[in-house]
Amino acid sequence: MRIDIITAVPELLESPLGHSIVKRAKDKGLVELVIHNLRDYSTNNYRQIDDAPYGGTSGMVLMIEPIDKCISQLKNERDYDEIIYMTPDGETLNQQQANKMSLFTNIIILAGHYKGIDERVRELHITKEISIGDYVLSGGELGAAVLTDSIVRLIPGVLGDETSALSDSFQDQLLAPPVYTRPAEYKGLVVPEVLRSGNFPKIDNWLQEQALLRTKARRPDLLDE
Ligand code: ADE
Repeated sequence: MRIDIITAVPELLESPLGHSIVKRAKDKGLVELVIHNLRDYSTNNYRQIDDAPYGGTSGMVLMIEPIDKCISQLKNERDYDEIIYMTPDGETLNQQQANKMSLFTNIIILAGHYKGIDERVRELHITKEISIGDYVLSGGELGAAVLTDSIVRLIPGVLGDETSALSDSFQDQLLAPPVYTRPAEYKGLVVPEVLRSGNFPKIDNWLQEQALLRTKARRPDLLDE
């Protein structure tokens, strides 16, 4: 899978996407991440990418030309499954969407900044708009990193243990059960006996029961869906 991320602040993406599982996926050749600095696509000598909004409202708006130039160039090179714009007024990201997108071949993620992007970019290129939650970030970069991470870890072969993404919270509309590691006892807190019993059918039942109890207590809305 190839993910092209377009941003005015590439530095904000380098660290979140340069470590851990995403790095492993890149090293294994399972994902190609290409970060594009919007300033490289500026159409004037000042590397300008933003301008004041029409109508006299406050803040700055990302201009259409650099974004169009970058996306058009990418679209000429290959076909894209989706061209996604990160925005608080998009559809809220969930695990089902991440699952679906992990099967795509090529996507573009556009991170906005300042007051937003010229509305005409949406009409011209954007096929999907995603929010990572009902709060406003300073830019779409952290959202783009969240979206990329949620997708990349689901690409087949990325996680060593193939079952481990399947047991994540939300994967079957249930929160994940509690997990423990050594020592078996710490400051009087003990690991549940069943997990140390070696009886795997019993352990499996216990884990399912705990997932259900936790979901009922914390996110009953998931069970209604
Ligand atoms: N850009 C600013 N706020 C955002 C949010 N909540 N989700 C995605 N992109 C954003």
